[in-house]
Amino acid sequence: MRTGYCGEFSARDEGREVELCGWVHRRRDLGGITFIDLRDRSGLIQLVFNPENKAAHELARSLDREDVVQVKGIIKKRSKENINPNLPTGEIEVEVHGLEVLSKSKPLPFQIQDEVEAREETRLEYRYLDLRRPRMRQNLFLRHKVILEIRKFLDARGFIEVETPMLTKSTPEGARDYLVPSRTFPGRFFALPQSPQLFKQILMIAGFDRYFQIARCFRDEDLRADRQPEFTQLDLEMAFVTQEEILALVEELVCHIFREALGQELVRPFPRLRYQEALARFGSDKPDLRFGLEIREASDLFAGSEFRIFREAVASGGIVAGLALSGSDHTYSRRELEELEKLVKGFGAKGLVSLKLGEEGVESAISKFLSPELIARLRERFGAGPGDLIFLLADEPRRAREALGALRLELGKREELISRGWKPLWIVDPPLFELDEQGNITSTHHPFTMPKAEDLELLEEEPLAVRADAYDLVLNGEEVAGGSIRIHRRDLQSRIFKILGLSEAEAEEKFGFFLRALEYGAPPHGGIAFGLDRLIMLMAGAESIREVIAFPKTLTAYCPLTGAPTPVREEQLKELGLALRGRED
Ligand code: AMO
Repeated sequence: MRTGYCGEFSARDEGREVELCGWVHRRRDLGGITFIDLRDRSGLIQLVFNPENKAAHELARSLDREDVVQVKGIIKKRSKENINPNLPTGEIEVEVHGLEVLSKSKPLPFQIQDEVEAREETRLEYRYLDLRRPRMRQNLFLRHKVILEIRKFLDARGFIEVETPMLTKSTPEGARDYLVPSRTFPGRFFALPQSPQLFKQILMIAGFDRYFQIARCFRDEDLRADRQPEFTQLDLEMAFVTQEEILALVEELVCHIFREALGQELVRPFPRLRYQEALARFGSDKPDLRFGLEIREASDLFAGSEFRIFREAVASGGIVAGLALSGSDHTYSRRELEELEKLVKGFGAKGLVSLKLGEEGVESAISKFLSPELIARLRERFGAGPGDLIFLLADEPRRAREALGALRLELGKREELISRGWKPLWIVDPPLFELDEQGNITSTHHPFTMPKAEDLELLEEEPLAVRADAYDLVLNGEEVAGGSIRIHRRDLQSRIFKILGLSEAEAEEKFGFFLRALEYGAPPHGGIAFGLDRLIMLMAGAESIREVIAFPKTLTAYCPLTGAPTPVREEQLKELGLALRGRED
């Protein structure tokens, strides 16, 4: 139907007779001549309709934005003053002598331009229009390229891609399941996989040695900018492998992706931080290393101080910690300080104290409690001097650190401290278990994660002190991948289930098939899964993973394009043996 894509012609094609197809991006009628920017996925080219060619010219004047046309014409060089340096095809235009309208468009709900803001719900409802915008197109092309490079890289290293079931049994990643009723077994349900975790481990037991999958995962959890109810993982697993070997391979893979898809080199090896150190220094298990502003503890300085609130917090097992903002030329107003206090309170902290350091003393609501000696030691602890601002708070250690982690990010943004570029890092040695909101022991990652050998003896006595052979890959403050060495022995797996409060009957009911597989010669193995949408979001410089997913859902897990989820017919329910009760909340 056409000679080539609109955006691929140049001055070298001068004089060529071409046929082009595409969408009417814009029309201008100037001094009797009609100009149309014709667009396809490659870009724009200018069409010129002269009144001498009456039929085509008249038809062109009737065209609206986004009508689909086919044209025949000759490529001409533009005169010097008409060259558009902002357009790759800006040196040429097509003098059209034949025009056919292939399809008409209704008036648009929003313009096909990156700069035009439309409500997200509208963008998703008319996603086919939204995807015509250059940025969305680039994002999906980037996604394609990343996935292609992943396949090439892993194939070259002996990985094989295996698909695992979508209709399966509940998998243990800790979110709520999406359930699918079975017609052939009325009253029973499949669960959509939260990840291919157990199947990939079974593939290792089956001897495949190196597996990967670009795998769709489903999690019914509260949504945020970096979460979707269905999302894509790059899931991989290796047998007879050490943690070091996995980390090295993944670093190589990430470097390959950035090199091939963005033309950028990342520095290897990626730094590693132990989980506890990341919390203490950055108040987060996914620290953004693009700026400093590290948290420092000052509990010892306040343990015997006159400031009762801090002194008592330390006496009851809490900590006093804070951050120092130096070199800021911004003076924080009372209102801004209140905003920052509100932020830390949102993380459960009780308050936030600020100290503005002067040449001599400090300006602070608590200055009367601070002896000159304490001030001197604070300056030293925070490496702060005149003009600097120290923020302090006291709380139970974890809460204090998380609140300061949030404050650190907020100050990083407000003060524009965040540098450009890529800061990957590994978070290693996380705790194997944590307490859930009800105070019950749960797995920090998932129950198939190997405890650190040197902590094994603590397993039953002090489970919360046991660390895991697990690792997360963090990039610019986002967790982009997580994985671990797995348990490959049935006895250890059973001990873990027991600590998690699962009776033998429950373990059998939920994971019996997997426990049995462990009894038939399971090799040591381990792996990792990337949140592919998150990785591509970062690479695309997008604010949300919805910008790199062709057909995402809203924050209420709704699809404005199709209207899903929708009610179903009574007969369908009947066939499945289901009756609706209505919600009881
Ligand atoms: P995990 O649960 O850490 O590990 O998931 C791996 C990565 O998937 C991404 N991710 C998400 N992305 C978008 N929307 C979501 N709702 C969402 N949830 C998670 C994150 C995360 O780092 N089976 C293990 C992996 C393993 O042990 O090999 C697993 O699924 O970027």
